[in-house]
Amino acid sequence: MQYRFPESFWWGSASSAPQAEGASLQGGKAPTIWDHWFAIEPNRFHQQVGPAETSTFYKYFRDDIGLMAEIGHNSFRTSISWARLLPAGQGEPNAEAVSFYQDMLDELLARGITPFINLFHFDMPLAMQEIGGWENREVVDAYADFAATCFRLFGGKVKHWFTFNEPIVPVEGGYLYDFHYPNVVDFRRAATVAYNTMIAHAKAVQAYRQLGGDGQIGIILNLTPSYPRSQNPADLKAAHIADLFFNRSFLDPAVRGEFPAELVALLREYDQLPACEPGDKALLAAGKVDLLGVNYYQPRRVKARLNAVNPASPFIPEWFFDYYEMPGRKMNPHRGWEIYEKGIYDILTDLRDNYGNVPCFISENGMGVEGEEKFLGTNGQIQDDYRIEFIRDHLIWVHKALQEGCQCLGYHLWTFVDNWSWSNAYKNRYGFVRLDLGTGERRIKKSGEWFADVSRRGGF
Ligand code: BG6
Repeated sequence: MQYRFPESFWWGSASSAPQAEGASLQGGKAPTIWDHWFAIEPNRFHQQVGPAETSTFYKYFRDDIGLMAEIGHNSFRTSISWARLLPAGQGEPNAEAVSFYQDMLDELLARGITPFINLFHFDMPLAMQEIGGWENREVVDAYADFAATCFRLFGGKVKHWFTFNEPIVPVEGGYLYDFHYPNVVDFRRAATVAYNTMIAHAKAVQAYRQLGGDGQIGIILNLTPSYPRSQNPADLKAAHIADLFFNRSFLDPAVRGEFPAELVALLREYDQLPACEPGDKALLAAGKVDLLGVNYYQPRRVKARLNAVNPASPFIPEWFFDYYEMPGRKMNPHRGWEIYEKGIYDILTDLRDNYGNVPCFISENGMGVEGEEKFLGTNGQIQDDYRIEFIRDHLIWVHKALQEGCQCLGYHLWTFVDNWSWSNAYKNRYGFVRLDLGTGERRIKKSGEWFADVSRRGGF
């Protein structure tokens, strides 16, 4: 075997409640912003497919978990839906939700699969958005109560908790670039949402520790290494600022317990800082994670801006750089994302060298492919050799990072069974397991079989 991984390495996949459970308005669950947005603007979703049914995990979780075991999972991440557990956003838990999550966790444990549980995956309960979402500190407190409720109810079964998945995405989508509800474009409001999200994170960490949680608590961040076009000082500066905005804005508070001073100074200069409250600084300092999830899909290549900024346009990070399309870059044309395997190594070595080698794992990596049925083999199985190659080539860089002392504890693919990708709905398929949208039938792809083998042998 050429690439051997530690015996304790986590092999598995990641998913989320809103993208896989379905039953979005059943079992006592209240609507989230996704149900609402789809109801008012269905045209914003690929083929007008909304969040109501997604991948029916709510109904078929036992079968799905059986398939996870079949393809060598020793761990699996999903989320608890806030709007399912606490339909009003706060108050008494919904009994049906409690038994669903208990059963799901028991099934995972019975199959020898360690549950990794995340508490927020872009799915703000509508009741909470109606009072301002993350712009309102009452929502921050309600989230901290929701987190504490989860720790109390499920802490006996769950030892790996995550406060947020990719917290920058609702900031970008909802308050800067118009791809999530509430479709606002306003940097100061975006900064408030980002800041309050980290306060919510820190409050959840505090609650976990106060309750005597005997596991680990962390956060999952999408880290996109910023590469400059050239070594020209203007290109280097562009990459540095992009890194501050898109990586360090969440990575520094999560791991170092404070926002980067340079970012704060920049936002102060442009009068974009959010409001802080007394006690926030200490709370953030105490909210450092035990474990960091790293989602890696693509690098960010930037160059110095060519044109002057229109000062009347809304302030956005792109005031400080232009995107750069590197000639000859390798692309996943379906998602429009560059494939750059070494990026995963650059992240891990950065964490080793600049973030105290915080224990981490690859919590998402994956390849979304449109029209995947054209790769259906004569045996009726999707022959996704491109996905096998994608995973293998990333794992080779993870392996190198491990050999060089990085503390990367596992690898989770996005995702287990093809699931609903927000406004892209079912356009791109990511799963180890194919979902037939017509019949609901699940069928393990070639990559799932390959992964089972890698996981069982501990390498390839
Ligand atoms: C991550 C998210 O951003 O990437 C997932 O955590 C998402 O929710 C995945 O589905 C793939 O991206 P997309 O936009 O193609 O669904």
